Amino acid sequence: MNQKLIAPSILSADFAKLGQEITDVTAAGADWIHVDVMDGHFVPNLTIGMPVVAALKKFCKIPLDVHLMIDKPEKYVAEFCKAGSDSLTIHVEATDQPDKVLRMIKDLKVKPGISLRPKTALSKIEPLLSQVDLVLVMTVEPGFGGQGFMQDQVAKIDELKKIRDQKGFKYLIEVDGGVSDKTVGHLKNADVLVAGSFVFQKPGSIEKYQEQIRKLRA
Ligand code: DX5
Ligand code: ZN
Repeated sequence: MNQKLIAPSILSADFAKLGQEITDVTAAGADWIHVDVMDGHFVPNLTIGMPVVAALKKFCKIPLDVHLMIDKPEKYVAEFCKAGSDSLTIHVEATDQPDKVLRMIKDLKVKPGISLRPKTALSKIEPLLSQVDLVLVMTVEPGFGGQGFMQDQVAKIDELKKIRDQKGFKYLIEVDGGVSDKTVGHLKNADVLVAGSFVFQKPGSIEKYQEQIRKLRA
């Protein structure tokens, strides 16, 4: 894939006007909207849940890419699918039966994704790769926006590309954490770039978001 997809993370948007922020970043050229769901257990932070996803879905014109950083995602995936997720990513560390949860998501006609923490070996998700539409490589510890990019995770991205080529898998490789114009050069094998703090500059405007997205594509 030549043209990478850009998925701004609304974690860094102004939560008091999320609807407007999504409209603006879509006008600025975003391909997907990345939604970070955190439960205060799997990660030490709390964000948003199903009602917000459902509200955003009503007027969001581009795919909603929902990243669940929650324990026991099996309890909630059906509701996140119903709320309007276009893709739904779970963490391999968060459940004993990731294969079953991914199948639940697929059965609900939503694209399943798998993610792993920086300290988790790629071998932990290898048995799941035939099942997923997305692999989300974390290049920061999940939980917060605005952290530094972990360059030692780039090898996972490159390995995932190699495995896909060798085995004929179809997943997109998505990278999340510390993505900016300074780090994008390491991401030649990524298909989807999540970027929160780099895109949602303050104060925000369509022009500013456009400029940041243009820098990521350059
Ligand atoms: C972190 C989240 C990311 C976060 C990225 O746990 O999964 O999506 O918003 O933020 P930046 O781009 O600022 O590192
Ligand atoms: Zn994320």
